[in-house]
Amino acid sequence: MKRALSDKQQDALVQLLGKPAVCVDDNSRKTYGADWSQAADPDPVAVVFPSTREQLHAIIAYANEWRWPLVPSGGRTGLTGAAVAAHGEIVVSLEKMNRILELDTRERLLICEPGVITAQVQQAAREHGLFYPVEFGAEGSSQVGGNIATNAGGVRVLRYGMTRAQVAGLQAVTGHGTWIDEMRCLRKDNAGYALRELLIGSEGTLAITTQAGLRLCEPMPALATVLLLLDDINTLPEVLRAMQRFPLYACEWMDQRAFALGNEAQANPLGVASAAGYLMIEAPADAMTVEALSAALATQPVADVLLAQSSKQAEGFWAVRDSITGALKPRHPLKFDVGFRASRMPAVFAAIAQQWPDAVVYGHLGDGNLHLNLVNVQDPLHAQAQVWQIVKQFQGTITAEHGIGMLRSRALQSTEAHDRLSAMRAIKQALDPNGILNPGKLVST
Ligand code: MLT
Ligand code: ZN
Repeated sequence: MKRALSDKQQDALVQLLGKPAVCVDDNSRKTYGADWSQAADPDPVAVVFPSTREQLHAIIAYANEWRWPLVPSGGRTGLTGAAVAAHGEIVVSLEKMNRILELDTRERLLICEPGVITAQVQQAAREHGLFYPVEFGAEGSSQVGGNIATNAGGVRVLRYGMTRAQVAGLQAVTGHGTWIDEMRCLRKDNAGYALRELLIGSEGTLAITTQAGLRLCEPMPALATVLLLLDDINTLPEVLRAMQRFPLYACEWMDQRAFALGNEAQANPLGVASAAGYLMIEAPADAMTVEALSAALATQPVADVLLAQSSKQAEGFWAVRDSITGALKPRHPLKFDVGFRASRMPAVFAAIAQQWPDAVVYGHLGDGNLHLNLVNVQDPLHAQAQVWQIVKQFQGTITAEHGIGMLRSRALQSTEAHDRLSAMRAIKQALDPNGILNPGKLVST
């Protein structure tokens, strides 16, 4: 049964944070208790907005004292319900901790608080002639703390890695109320367990980020955007192998249905022939690379090669890719986010096509990540079991990018090895002994 905050408990929160930073109205609870996943109806008891790490630390102490569960909350753009509060939790929004504290161009380092929006990091980097390479659809509202909690990926992972690769430093307060301060931001630091790496991707179940050091890079070179049309999916590994010689900055897949959905969503759809699948790649646009790429593609079993002739045309290709998720939404797909080795892709595609001829498959093929969307599913549990079977058969992962959250927690328990789960539970117990951080998510105890 859901607990209600007593007057004493609510007063104590107000004492810690000030009245404006404690919201119990329906609108705030519904808004901040939900994320893009719509995994469950939001129903937190309150939403709190700490402005400092000391306040955040005090909320953790409060939660331990009252044994009250907390749900850390960023831009709420996750797709697996890691930020959903459906059971009377207190949502801890980090949006007031939103300062960029330092940008050091010599070190190529940006230090910020967790509530800074991803696009603001990108903008700050740009203003200093640098580049922040975590690029994904939700960058306009996702926050650094959420990116760290979910180890956000996106379309440049192939070249730059996921968020974990960009986090040079991290400071966080654990569920136990202890500090993990890894803000040295050193290139090499071998002093003990990799706690920073452990916290990244822990989905707010171990600690809440209070500060981050993000690595910035040189701006990307001008890129050539190429759309490859494939008639036979079995040729994919060969094409991917040939592409490996090139420094690819993107390698995205759209099957026939995904491409059609994205294209139909455009005001001016591309006049591109129908194909079994479309591979969109980006490589440096210098003459040598483009020439070598064209030569390599000429020997590949592809039906057609469309090299964008202008940045407007390249944007048109990307618009199709970026529109697929939105175009699918009205069809209420059962979404999966699986990952496999490149060599297994044709067999995986065949297994998917055999069971779900109308599946919509797209994603970051260059890093082995497929967004599998099943439509018109009569029995979601059965369909899910079948997908996990394919994951098992081809030694893949149940989530390459979106994480576990609420929606995949049970699947994690049923698909991962017992010992691996035990190690995760032991870590959870050590850092959050009272289980106050994001209960029911990831490795639910
Ligand atoms: C994408 O790559 O478009 C996103 O991860 C969203 C999705 O899976 O639909
Ligand atoms: Zn994705």
